[in-house]
Amino acid sequence: MAAELRSAQWYGGTDRNAYIHRAWMRRGLPHDAFSGRPHIAIANTASDLTPCNAHLGEVARSVRDGVHEAGGIPLELPVVSLGETQVRPTAMLWRNMAAMAAEEMFRANPVDGLVLLGGCDKTIPALLMAAASVDLPALVVPGGPMLTGTFRGAPLGCGTDVWRLSEEVRAGEMSEQEFTRSESSMIRSRGHCNTMGTASTMAVLAEALGMVLPGLAGTPAPDSRLLESAHESGRLAVELVHEGRTPSHVVTAASFRNAIVALAATGGSTNAVVHLLALAGRLGVELSLDDFDRVGADVPLLVDLLPAGRFLMDDLYRAGGLAAVLDQVRDLLDPAARTVTGRPLVDHLDGARIWDPEVIRTRDAPLQPAAGIAVLRGNLAPSGALIKPAAASPELLRHRGRAVVFDSIEDFHARIDAPDLDVDADSVLVLRGCGPRGYPGMPEVSNMPLPRKLLERGVRDMVRICDGRMSGTAYGTVVLHVAPEAAAGGPLALVQNGDWISLDVEGRGLTLEVPDAELAARTPNEATVAGYAAPRRGWERLYVDHVLQADTGADLDFLVGSSGSEVSRESH
Ligand code: FES
Ligand code: MG
Repeated sequence: MAAELRSAQWYGGTDRNAYIHRAWMRRGLPHDAFSGRPHIAIANTASDLTPCNAHLGEVARSVRDGVHEAGGIPLELPVVSLGETQVRPTAMLWRNMAAMAAEEMFRANPVDGLVLLGGCDKTIPALLMAAASVDLPALVVPGGPMLTGTFRGAPLGCGTDVWRLSEEVRAGEMSEQEFTRSESSMIRSRGHCNTMGTASTMAVLAEALGMVLPGLAGTPAPDSRLLESAHESGRLAVELVHEGRTPSHVVTAASFRNAIVALAATGGSTNAVVHLLALAGRLGVELSLDDFDRVGADVPLLVDLLPAGRFLMDDLYRAGGLAAVLDQVRDLLDPAARTVTGRPLVDHLDGARIWDPEVIRTRDAPLQPAAGIAVLRGNLAPSGALIKPAAASPELLRHRGRAVVFDSIEDFHARIDAPDLDVDADSVLVLRGCGPRGYPGMPEVSNMPLPRKLLERGVRDMVRICDGRMSGTAYGTVVLHVAPEAAAGGPLALVQNGDWISLDVEGRGLTLEVPDAELAARTPNEATVAGYAAPRRGWERLYVDHVLQADTGADLDFLVGSSGSEVSRESH
């Protein structure tokens, strides 16, 4: 049996190298630790600088117990961690680095299976991408959302209410003192953001993809049931190794279709689009931007969570969780798609119930009948752009307005509140240089704050267009992920102040109303080009030279696909 395990390539036999591998690992392990027991790496993104994941050490201990109990050897492996609110210029710049580093360490080490502990926005996507490219048996334990904090008697949604309150301050409706006072109320407990932002979305989608013990995603971080599920996940990891059930067995095209249904029904983050596309690229699964529209567009919105709705993640859990949501759209799910349990996802929905129909709507009373992400095309976005209609203003979904152009985020901040800025409520705000290559890293800046003078007049939404991303906790009529980005030669670089732009979400169009011949004669102005990143060395240099566009997931070109778990050579 030992010979069947990957780790036996290191530990099996009596030669000098096996001796070295075993001897340095002994340190209290039992004598039979190297004779046929699966070695399970617990990839841990816990870090004090990733506050949303800081509690994962405790989760890891429960995983360890489960691994031991099932006869495996648990081995904690700290991996690159990314705190969404802390790292600059944007955590997205480091997603591929975290994925690459984790993949290489999974492959380089004598491990047979993986338990992936993530939470904050980029950590679950990075770990999934890594696990897909090494294709070792793996499952995810999402760290869970935080409990609901309240301020002045009302719940505060992480992220979303920061945007809302700061706009109130800019509109003169709230004092700065009060704004600052709300700060200590927002983060009530351990865990990641409690809105349906990127972290919540990716946890839920990891489960919809089949990579999480069913029922676990969305369990609040301080809830005892998280540790119970973590324990069970540890046991399951050992079983995965015995069964040889790797990510490429679990996650198929059907799994991605299920994830897109889940994304729409829960009103999840637009960031999921780039993460799922990148993951599909690692697995060699055909998935295109248009699949999100094709599969997701007619899925009803059932979950009433911020940023689009009212409630927060612990309400969703209390109301029945993901299973109750998916049960309502069961007919839209692919019955063949399996999970880490070896059984189909839909099997795990039996017995699911909605306990609070305010939070989770039934299929016949949806919040919106069609909630998916819309993919727009036109001469302003030849490779596509996104909009989340559920988070937009219905009256702006068909709109024509004149462009007010900003060449960089700095340019935007310098001019947006200028009293003489030539802008009105019908204008279309355009921000460029914020794509994967241009910024670099495709930051969450697309939901541009509105001009102060318009806020003071009561304007609360405008059409905004950008080649960057938007925080999953944000809202507004925002066209984002414009591809190709300005810095990759996209026509977004050619827009001039005063150009007419038309948005037609129903017709899926995004048009710059400038004749082709005139557009062909334009070149990007100096200020635009000066805003593009030009890193000299290091990861940023590698990233800018190799990053792909948003419409294919913004992975690095040489990281697409899988290398498997083979290691070519011994170390001594
Ligand atoms: Fe970590 Fe929102 S900042 S999940
Ligand atoms: Mg985010």
